[in-house]
Amino acid sequence: MAGSSSLPTNFAKRLQGKVALITGGASGIGEGTARLFARHGAKVVIADVQSDLGHSVSKEIQSESGQPVSYVQCDVAKDSDVENAVKTAVSMHGKLDIMFNNAGITGKYDSSILSIEREDFKKVFDINVYGGLLGAKHAATVMIPQKKGCILFTASIASVSYGGIPHAYTAAKHAVVGLTKNLAVELGKHGIRVNCISPAGIPTPLAAKAMGGVDLKTVQEASMAVANLKGVSADANDIAEAALYLGSEESRFVSGLNIVVDGGYSLRNYSSAN
Ligand SMILES: NC(=O)c1ccc[n+]([C@@H]2O[C@H](COP(=O)([O-])OP(=O)(O)OC[C@H]3O[C@@H](n4cnc5c(N)ncnc54)[C@H](O)[C@@H]3O)[C@@H](O)[C@H]2O)c1
Repeated sequence: MAGSSSLPTNFAKRLQGKVALITGGASGIGEGTARLFARHGAKVVIADVQSDLGHSVSKEIQSESGQPVSYVQCDVAKDSDVENAVKTAVSMHGKLDIMFNNAGITGKYDSSILSIEREDFKKVFDINVYGGLLGAKHAATVMIPQKKGCILFTASIASVSYGGIPHAYTAAKHAVVGLTKNLAVELGKHGIRVNCISPAGIPTPLAAKAMGGVDLKTVQEASMAVANLKGVSADANDIAEAALYLGSEESRFVSGLNIVVDGGYSLRNYSSAN
C-alpha cells in the first residue's frame, strides 16, 4: 500500500537535485517516502536491515522514477553502520540534503507495566532513539560544513496520545520528539532544520504485526474507524507527503516541529467519547 498516489508526468518537482538517506526505507512509511522523494527528483539511498527487500525496492523505485535509488545495509543501532550509510550517500552523490531517521520497531507488544523486560526496553530504545541520534550525528557531520540540511524523524501518535501502546515504544517516541527539539536548537545556527512526524495507524508490516498479525486492509479500516476525520483511507503516502513538505524548501522556516498526521485521532479521549 506504500506510495499509492499517482502524479501527472509534468508536475513541479519539489526535491529536484536533493540527496536523501532514508532509514527503514525498505518497507512501509520509509518505502513510501523513498518512492515519493524519487518522483520529486531526489536521489535516494535506502538504509535498512532487510537486504533482499531493500535491493528490490530500490531497483523498482529507480525504474519507476528514473532517479538514482540505491540500498545500503545498515543497522541503525550500530554507529559504524550509520556512519557508513551517510558516507555512502555522500560518496555517491556528493552531499546529503535530507536525513530521514525513520527505522523503528514496536518491541514486545504487551502494554502492561508488569510485563516490562529490560532487554526489550533496551532494544526499542537502541533502534528507535539511539538509532535516530546516530543518524542525526553523522548527518550533522556532513551538513554543518554544507551550512544547510534537513533532519527528519518518525515519531508516533504515541508521542502525543495514549493508544494501548507498549510503555517502551511510547517512551521512545516521546524521546524522539525531545531530540527533535534539542537538535533543532543546536543545529539551527548551521542552517540545519530538524523536524519529526507522528503518524497514527498506517497500514504497514509493523502495524499489522502489532495488531496480532492482521492484514494491511484490517489495519487501514481500524485506523479509519478511530480517526475523527472520515472518508480518508490513510496509507504510507500520507506520511511521505508530510516528509516531502518538511524536506522541501516550502518548509524552509520550519524547525523543531512534531507534525501529527492522524486524521484528528489524538484530539479525542475515547474513555469519555461515545
Ligand atoms: N505504521 C504505523 O502505524 C506507525 C505509526 C506510528 C509510527 N510509526 C513509525 O514509523 C516508522 C516506520 O515504520 P513502518 O510502520 O513503516 O514499519 P515497517 O516495519 O514497514 O518498516 C520499518 C522498517 O525499519 C526497518 N528496521 C527495523 N529495525 C531496523 C534497524 N535496526 N536498522 C535499520 N532498519 C531497521 C525494517 O527492516 C523495516 O524495513 C517506525 O519508526 C515506526 O515506529 C509507524
